[in-house]
Amino acid sequence: MASPIGLLSGRLALVTGGGSGIGRAVCHVLAREGARVVVADLNSIAAEETKKYLDDMGGRNEHLALPVDVSVGRSVQSLIVDIRGKFNSAPSIVVNSAGITRDNFLLKMDENSWNAVMNVNLKGTFLVTQAAAAAILDDKIPMSSIINIASIIGKTGNVGQCNYAASKAGVEAFTRSVSKELAKHNVRVNAVLPGFIETPMVQSVPDKVKEKFKALIPFGRMGLPEEVAEVVLFLASDRSSYVTGNCIEVSGGLAT
Ligand code: CAA
Ligand code: NAI
Repeated sequence: MASPIGLLSGRLALVTGGGSGIGRAVCHVLAREGARVVVADLNSIAAEETKKYLDDMGGRNEHLALPVDVSVGRSVQSLIVDIRGKFNSAPSIVVNSAGITRDNFLLKMDENSWNAVMNVNLKGTFLVTQAAAAAILDDKIPMSSIINIASIIGKTGNVGQCNYAASKAGVEAFTRSVSKELAKHNVRVNAVLPGFIETPMVQSVPDKVKEKFKALIPFGRMGLPEEVAEVVLFLASDRSSYVTGNCIEVSGGLAT
């Protein structure tokens, strides 16, 4: 149920990867707090499903589902044009959650797997942030917040994930750099570093590897997408008005 006066009343949010997992949970929480939400995803059917859920939550806000491939500049540009056409404004909240894995050991990793992960996770975050920030400045949005979903794996590294770990470490460095550039425009830029979260992304991880990880997590369990979404909400809202350039771990204590 969307609250009548939420933390994000009057705000417009863009969530990439909003069709599944963490992105979908973020859409739910932002809508619950009164934001209008643009659900953007490569999988347009999944994006529509998320939007339908938001509509069914019963608030008065209008939400929108749009297709995007975050790894392609033209696609990202059209997304921003479509959002401004529909809502007459740039989003004041941007959540970069679209991401993929192509796991393999270094010695077996092909160039396509390296490129795919870099293009979606790192280049996609750059393209969406750049296009959204330009629109935010153009529309003179007074306060805005960009939140990048990185990963604890960018800090710890992981067997079978040299491409993914490098992409997520890149997202952290990108976040810190861009936060310094955009602070003078009142655009805050932060990252969330989830640990192992129960979403379709982790379903393909072999059971024995999952068990190894659970043994390393002090809470002894994987996290829920909603537990990440609530931290994203904090960063999106004015409750974090003096927080920028930060990378917050949401990992059940999984050691870095
Ligand atoms: N940590 C520790 N050991 C691992 C491991 C990991 N992440 N991944 C694989 N291994 C071990 C296996 O347990 C196995 O050990 P034994 O020989 O003792 O049985 C050995 O490496 C070989 O593994 P496979 O038989 O599975 O080898 P494969 O060639 O068939 O597959 C692989 C290789 C694709 C890397 C596969 O093992 C795999 O998918 N591993 C999981 C990688 C992983 O942890 N991904 C996390 C995805 S979730 C995510 O990325 C979100 C996030 O941000 C946290
Ligand atoms: P998911 O696989 O459930 O959802 C990812 C979504 O991104 C999907 O809807 C997919 O269609 C979309 N997507 C993929 N490529 C895209 C592209 N090129 N353009 C637009 N959308 C695209 O994954 P999950 O778990 O929700 O992951 C979300 C983010 O959180 C990712 O960036 C992931 O790396 C990160 N993360 C996930 C963790 C986990 O344990 N599940 C842990 C740490 C970080």
